[in-house]
Amino acid sequence: MLRNIKQKKQKKRKNPDLNRRRLLGGSGKSLWYLALLGIFYPLLRFVNFAIPKKPRKVRVETDIPPGGFYIGADFVVFANAKKVWAVSRTCTHLGCKLAYNETKRELICPCHHSIFSKAGKRLAGPAKLDLPRYKVNKTANKPGYMVII
Ligand code: FES
Repeated sequence: MLRNIKQKKQKKRKNPDLNRRRLLGGSGKSLWYLALLGIFYPLLRFVNFAIPKKPRKVRVETDIPPGGFYIGADFVVFANAKKVWAVSRTCTHLGCKLAYNETKRELICPCHHSIFSKAGKRLAGPAKLDLPRYKVNKTANKPGYMVII
């Protein structure tokens, strides 16, 4: 048994082409897969293919008073006397980050000036869709909220 293994190792050493052939064959396959990916990825992006993401929980560590708001990296949380809600900060036109104008009470896109209401409704601009709304849960025994995006 041990002798067989030693003989196989010696054969490999005597025939270095075998390893090179394997290596080139393996890299050939890899190049083929890369070429396929290069062809199909733009095609999938063109038809707006997206792999659904798992919902992510983001904690907001402060309570928001009625009429107040909290700006996170990916969302804005608003509160009134009755409820708390969150809308996405990603513009539905081309994906720029929205800014909240406190005096006008609107979300404004700095890129092409789409405007959205606090509820996420599209009011003006080149964006055609409303902003996605996220579920907000009050955290138990602690101040703050859990936003599920
Ligand atoms: S990316 Fe927001 S309006 Fe174009």
